[in-house]
Amino acid sequence: MNLTQMTQAILQKMPAARIPSLEEGQLISAQRAFFQKHEASLINEFYNLLYSDSNTRLVLGEPKLRVQREKTLHQWYQVTISGSFDEDYWAWQTLVGIVHVKHKVSNVSLLSMWAWMVDFLQTRLLAELPLEQARPIISVLNKLQATVCSLIVESFLMTQQEAITRASGLNERILGRFINVEIDSLLKQGRESLIQAQGLQSSAA
Ligand code: HEM
Repeated sequence: MNLTQMTQAILQKMPAARIPSLEEGQLISAQRAFFQKHEASLINEFYNLLYSDSNTRLVLGEPKLRVQREKTLHQWYQVTISGSFDEDYWAWQTLVGIVHVKHKVSNVSLLSMWAWMVDFLQTRLLAELPLEQARPIISVLNKLQATVCSLIVESFLMTQQEAITRASGLNERILGRFINVEIDSLLKQGRESLIQAQGLQSSAA
């Protein structure tokens, strides 16, 4: 499966109404001045946070690479605020996700920073625009976050599954059964420990 096919296969699993349309993208591009005004501080605070955190600092490498990293994020941001949410944009977001896997950046940190970025923009949208203007833009940003994060997570799982299938020679159905066995065992253990914890809570009450 190539990048475009994988991207489309993932998007088709989402409710179509939760994927930002080109028209919704125009709500973002119409506020270009707002997004540009906050670009520098968003990127500066984004990297301040990542470099000050011991969980993420290590994968970023030498602090002298920061200038290059910031430049990359500026370019990404400028394309994103143009609101051209078409097939190529989504395929690019899948690729960006895979680049991070290659650099040992966890999906967990990527998803956290997506949430941070949307929160950053949302706070300023609410502070600076009339509510009836800010709300629809926030709604598009939420859809954008969910769509890109779905592409990041699901493309990773699909790639991993394909690698396991190839390396093990197991077909997808048998692999699916093994995964189910793990899920059942986690559910059993999880339910038992939660029931125990509830038992402790009710006996303490
Ligand atoms: C909102 C979240 C993020 C966005 C939108 C983003 C965006 C990007 C983009 C566009 C690239 C270049 C991809 C390419 O080569 O085509 C990139 C590379 C990279 N990002 Fe991120 N990133 C995010 C979060 C993070 C986080 C949380 C980390 C680390 C903890 C990180 C570390 C890196 C690294 C190490 C590279 C590779 C740089 C290189 O090529 O030398 N990114 N990122």
